Amino acid sequence: DEFINWLKRVPKAELHLHIDGSMQPKRMLSLAKKNGISLPYDSLDAVQAAYAFEDLQSFLDLYYLGASVLLEEDDFFHLMMDYLLKCREQNIVHAEIMIEPQTYAPNGVSFATMMSGFKRAIKQAHDQWGQSVILILSFLRHLSEQDALEMLEQATDFRDDLMAIGLASSELGNPPQKFSQLYQEAARLGFRLSAHAGEEGPADFIWQALKGLDVERIDHGVRCVDDPELVDFLCERQIPLTVCPLSNTKLRVFETMHQHTVLSLLDRGLCVTINSDDPAYFGGYLNENYIALHEHLGMNQAQALRLVENSFKASFLSPERKQAFI
Ligand code: HPA
Ligand code: ZN
Repeated sequence: DEFINWLKRVPKAELHLHIDGSMQPKRMLSLAKKNGISLPYDSLDAVQAAYAFEDLQSFLDLYYLGASVLLEEDDFFHLMMDYLLKCREQNIVHAEIMIEPQTYAPNGVSFATMMSGFKRAIKQAHDQWGQSVILILSFLRHLSEQDALEMLEQATDFRDDLMAIGLASSELGNPPQKFSQLYQEAARLGFRLSAHAGEEGPADFIWQALKGLDVERIDHGVRCVDDPELVDFLCERQIPLTVCPLSNTKLRVFETMHQHTVLSLLDRGLCVTINSDDPAYFGGYLNENYIALHEHLGMNQAQALRLVENSFKASFLSPERKQAFI
């Protein structure tokens, strides 16, 4: 199909990607073996069989289990490099990648060890094929605000390597307002602000993220459709939503891709973008997400072009660097 070939080849940006969610099962099993971590899987088939999720929490349980195999600097290098090689393969010329040090800290991994591995891979990809990368420091909302503030403090040594902060993990029971101090402090330090909101949580959590945390970009945000005033607001202000179609169907935010509302929001004039979230867990990288919209929702080339343009427009790149891509 001509259109699918075009989708694969067109240069695009990915703005919503958890690096731990890009860990391929093969890499996970080999790191587990190397580091002497026991996992409840003895084969790639067993891993695949386990990746059938009922909701966000059932996924997060396996996501944190998978990330427990990461201990040494070289482990973080390989995790990042595996994803950056996918970027080259899929023509993802710019990637904004969420890293979550709170996941590794209980295993004794320091901020510096993690950053050294990630930065070594990013430098290599930049030197070899010009890969553009922005790192987002993503906090885990099931933990306390105090825990997040302590991690933000550790990040000050790497302030120049981190452009923005994010907020991920279990949304229900952990509203944005739980982190108002964290966002105030991050804003004071000059970080750009984003947060997951309105994935499983209600439209009100999107309002809280916008009004209470002052974020400029919402991860997911698909539950905005429950509040017409919010949809108007998102459209007027052109607040980007980083939507993840395959993630949403895997985690049953939508029962089928047929029911996904991303193209209606696009046609309504919202600044929506397409992303993979956790590609190793959800059955596809970025191109597969675009292809699914074509196959199940009849996305046409004009819509695809707007989504790709939005991916750069909604990025944290400077206006000059955006222009160079668009
Ligand atoms: N939602 C919340 N937290 C996450 C996700 C997600 O889709 N993926 C990884 N952490
Ligand atoms: Zn996410």
